[in-house]
Amino acid sequence: MIDLRSDTVTRPSKEMLGAMFSAKVGDDVFHDDPTVIMLEEKAAALMGKEDALFCPSGTMTNQIAVNVHTRPGDEVICHKHSHVYYYEGGAMMKNSGVSVCLLEGEHGRINAAGVAAHINPDNDVHRPVTTLVEVENTMNKGGGSVYKYETLEEISLVCREHNLKYHLDGARLFNALAETGETPLKYATLFDSVSICLSKGLGAPIGSLIIGDKAFIKRARRVRKAFGGAMRQVGYLAAAGIYALDHNIVRLKEDHSRARHIGKLLEAMPYIDQVMPVETNILIFTLNNKYSEKEFLSKLKEKDIHAMPLGPQVVRFVTHLDFTDSMLMKVDEVLKSL
Ligand SMILES: Cc1ncc(COP(=O)(O)O)c(C=O)c1O
Repeated sequence: MIDLRSDTVTRPSKEMLGAMFSAKVGDDVFHDDPTVIMLEEKAAALMGKEDALFCPSGTMTNQIAVNVHTRPGDEVICHKHSHVYYYEGGAMMKNSGVSVCLLEGEHGRINAAGVAAHINPDNDVHRPVTTLVEVENTMNKGGGSVYKYETLEEISLVCREHNLKYHLDGARLFNALAETGETPLKYATLFDSVSICLSKGLGAPIGSLIIGDKAFIKRARRVRKAFGGAMRQVGYLAAAGIYALDHNIVRLKEDHSRARHIGKLLEAMPYIDQVMPVETNILIFTLNNKYSEKEFLSKLKEKDIHAMPLGPQVVRFVTHLDFTDSMLMKVDEVLKSL
């Protein structure tokens, strides 16, 4: 089976499993699991921040950030297609009681002018208080698009000027950095909190980290408990995360070049209307009326290739650690034959 539905479908390698089996563990709710502590220290150092907290999912790390940075009734500014709003089951509204101000922006990216124009004046009692700005890099529904550092910096200046918190959903931050050549340390001072995922491009079976200063993480630890995300001998899973950070960041560009190969090929196919620019490992394209997305996906399925519909006529492919060159050749052959 060739699985292009998401980069979350990867299985841990033999080496990663070896690291997991030999992990030293403790009870992480008592904060004495040495492998979790090692992972949290590693992630904090990588991002140039004071502390980090290991959580089961990227949804939880995003939602913890929203909860810590806001109070019920506040407003969060983000893109209308941001994962934190669009794909997290209404959790911001449900768990934190916030309202949202949804911005437009090409390929899921917002900018400083858009943010500045949508901050509610704090002397107007009719309007919710704007307290948080959220960006996503890379942007999932934007086709894995990457922000320019300057744009992120400009937004951070607006946040500082208006005393707003600034959160980065960096579920695929390392995919973005692989393309820009920047280091995560460059991001350290821009954001109040950063979420990174270990279970997407980095190939771990589970896990995300929320990263910030000590006071933020202290509050995040309390919210994680309240959200039901405090875990016990979870060093076995943290060991997979350490392995992922040590071994699987350096190879991310391979996934991007395979995605680019497919993107280029699709552009020339008679059943394609449009291919979004392929910046990293996510490839979103629109079919013309030769096939509906259902017909197209079932044709692929007949050849044991699996992908995701993203709406009428829209399909998504995501390349990852378990998608090899020989699989790419098979996909190439099948796409040409349709
Ligand atoms: C950009 C982004 N943020 C957050 C998440 C949530 O991660 P999880 O599935 O671990 O909850 C995802 C999942 O695909 C994502 O793409």
